[in-house]
This record gives sequence, structure tokens and C-alpha cells, in this order.
Amino acid sequence: MSRRQNPERRANPLLSGRCGREPAEAMRRINASIDFDKRLWEEDIAGSKAHCAMLVAQKILSPEDGAAILDGLERIAAEIRSGSFPFREELEDIHMNVEARLSELIGPAAGRLHTARSRNDQVATDFRLWVRAAIDRLDLAMKALQQALIERAEAEAETLMPGFTHLQTAQPVTLGHHFLAYVEMVGRDRSRLADCRRRLNESPLGAAALAGTSFPIDREATACALGFDRPAANSIDAVSDRDFAIEFLAAAAIAGMHLSRLAEEIVIWASEPFGFIALSAAFTTGSSIMPQKRNPDAAELVRAQTGRLNGSLVALLTVMKGLPLAYAKDMQEDKLPVFAAADSLLLALEAASGMVRDLRPDRERLRQAAERGYAGATDVADWLVRVLDLPFRRAHRVTAEIVRRAEELGLSLAELPLPELQAIEPAITSEVAELLDVTRSVASRTSFGGTAPVRVREAAAEARRRFLE
Ligand code: ARG
Repeated sequence: MSRRQNPERRANPLLSGRCGREPAEAMRRINASIDFDKRLWEEDIAGSKAHCAMLVAQKILSPEDGAAILDGLERIAAEIRSGSFPFREELEDIHMNVEARLSELIGPAAGRLHTARSRNDQVATDFRLWVRAAIDRLDLAMKALQQALIERAEAEAETLMPGFTHLQTAQPVTLGHHFLAYVEMVGRDRSRLADCRRRLNESPLGAAALAGTSFPIDREATACALGFDRPAANSIDAVSDRDFAIEFLAAAAIAGMHLSRLAEEIVIWASEPFGFIALSAAFTTGSSIMPQKRNPDAAELVRAQTGRLNGSLVALLTVMKGLPLAYAKDMQEDKLPVFAAADSLLLALEAASGMVRDLRPDRERLRQAAERGYAGATDVADWLVRVLDLPFRRAHRVTAEIVRRAEELGLSLAELPLPELQAIEPAITSEVAELLDVTRSVASRTSFGGTAPVRVREAAAEARRRFLE
């Protein structure tokens, strides 16, 4: 209310080119992005410093003004860091908050910083720098998750468990092998982010509003100072491209999808009927009414992050769809989904790593489960092919009949007496019985990428080299 009565606080003094009416209350609120884009402050100051140094080197700015500006920017950084910076909504965004404060601190020289620059190339530069740093943080968190998974894989290289397709018992595998499957997924997630990083690492700075500038700027110099590989080639594209943010969100959504699969397995495995693993109180909660319960809340919440991640991707794709070149204010809506996705993914990765380290497999129960569900059926069929030279399709039919018979008698395959087997296929010998031992079955799957413990140990060592070094 008091703001309404104070016109000075309502208008943006940096944008007073075309005067007239004051902006409406709703206009000010819909227009302001400072509440969220203040997260770009470090990048904004880094971009301004690089721009300022370049203006001095190109003799567009005097060394005295340049020094005053750099000094003022340092002071602003210190203020923001200490929490004393006066953020003002009427100044719209981080760029104008910094610039207005600079002029309070150093006077009219501040007004020279914006020479040969626009907020359009400024925000595009800041945002690329921010996404680049977010990718680096996420890469570390993904590496930590891989490390946790590899360590578990090494410890559980021989732990038997049922492998599933359709969530039906398919063939026995090792828990270590299962963990290494996630190491591959996270490896691809990291490479997607690395790929996004490579493509985004071009500097928009110097594209100005959209057309470039008549000042003799040096875009190579600012690109290099900010760690970019090169200046973006086309000034119109430089200010209107948000592909890098969309690619980031797409990569984040895929990574979140992987985490949700891991989380879902943790939920299933920790359930009472499965009982494959137990989670400690570090990642579960008790029920307020049912004293026996341990709810896997962290896993459920990791699983749920996909909502925010997928939503963020769709939000930005929708904002960008059909926007005419070059900049449009719609693009101010690019930041919230990216910030939300980066935060959500980082937290989900930390929780996932924690759970992988925390979970305790029940090896006995896993082995028993691997023995149930006729998981050895494929081994029988393979034996009929290998030893009796049956065509695989015929071996499949014979084995199906054996399974049916076992079901009828309420026995596991291993428990089925030899005469029962021979009644179905007379050439079957006692050798088959040995195959039905799950440990042997798993040990026999030695093909490259297979589940045999020897292979799992090799694969874990190789994963260390590929991902952790
Ligand atoms: N706050 C704006 C954004 O985030 C900065 C760019 C404003 N440019 C402009 N021409 N109004 O997109």
C-alpha cells in the first residue's frame, strides 16, 4: 500500500526513456523476476566484470571508470554474499538491481557499464553460466551415486536374486549385476549432460539487443574470460536461443526417470511380501498409527521428483514454442523450471546415493526367491539344445511341459524326481538336476555383459575405470 503512494518506488528509474503512466500493480508483479533470478547474481557480476575489462582494453571505457566499476561490482558481490544487498522489486531483475546499486555506490560512471550490451545478451550469458555450473554440480552427484552402486555391486557380486521381466520371476541373476545396470544408466545421464555442456558453452555476450553493436568490442576476449569456448556466431540466435536450457531439462528428466526406477525397486524390495532389503531409519519413517511399519518415504519422494522434472521440460518447451525471433519477455519464464529441475535432481541424487549405501540385502531371502518361480526353466531348455541337440523351439515346449508337471505336483524344478522328467523326455539324464542349482545356473552365464559373478567382478572393475577415474 505504501508503495502505491510513493511513485518513486514504483517506477524503474533505469527504464524511464518513454514516460507517461506508472506501471499497474499487476504489471509490476508479472514483470518482476528478481524473486527468482537473484540466483544469477554471481554469474551476472562475472559477466559484467568481463564486459567492463573488455571495454577498457578496447578503449571504449576509460581505465579510471573501469576501475571504479570493477570495485563497485566487488562491493556488490560482498553485499549480496553477506545478505545486506537491498533487492528491489521495482527494479525488475538481477541485472537492473546490480546496475542501480552500482550507480548508488560509484555514481555516474556506473551508467557506462551498459555500453555495447543489452539485458538480452546479458541474461543469456548469465543463464548459460548458471546452467554450466549446475551441470558440473550434478555430474559430481551422479558420480557419487555410481561410486555407491559400484561398491555395492562388488560386495554383492555373488548374491543370488530372481531377475524379473514383467515383474515375473524370469532367470536368476546376481544383485551385483543388477546394481551395475544402474551404473550404466547414470553413465549415460552424465554423458548427456556433458554433451549439453559442450553445446551450451558459447558466449552470447556482445550480441547486444539482437543485432550486435557499432562499438569495436572484442567478443573473443569476453568469451575467453568467462570460460566459453567461443562467441556465439549469430547475434539474433545468441539472444533468442534457449536450446541449452531445454536440453538440460530433457537430460534432467531422463536422469530423474532412471532414479524413479531405482526408487521404485527399493520400494518393492523393502515391502514386507518381498523383504529383499531393509532400509534403516535414516531413509524411512514410522507410521503414526501402525507401530510395525517402516515407510520408504525417501524412495517414494525420489520417485515423485519425476513430476517436477517432466513438468519443467514441458513448461519450457511450451514457453519457447512459436516465439518469433529474437528476444521476447516470455523467455524470462525460462529460469524457474530450470532452477526447480536442477534443485530437484540434485536432491534426488543425494537421497538415492544415501539409500544405496544404507540398504541391507537379505541374502538368504533373495536366494530363496531366486529358487522359486521356475527360474531354472531356461537352463533346462538350453541343456536340451546343447546336449540332446533339440531345436530350441521344441526344447521350449518340452520344458514348458516339465514346468506344468512340477506345478501340478506342487514341486520346484529341482525337487521334481528324474522319472517325472523322463516321462516327458526320455533322453533326460541326472545331469539336468545339477543345472537346477541356482548358484551353478548363475555361474554359467559368463557371456560378455552377463550375470556370472566372475563377469560382475570384471564389470565392476571396468566401471571404476570408466566412471570413477
Ligand atoms: N529479466 C529479463 C529476462 O529474464 C532480462 C531481459 C530483459 N530484456 C528485455 N528486453 N526486456 O529475460
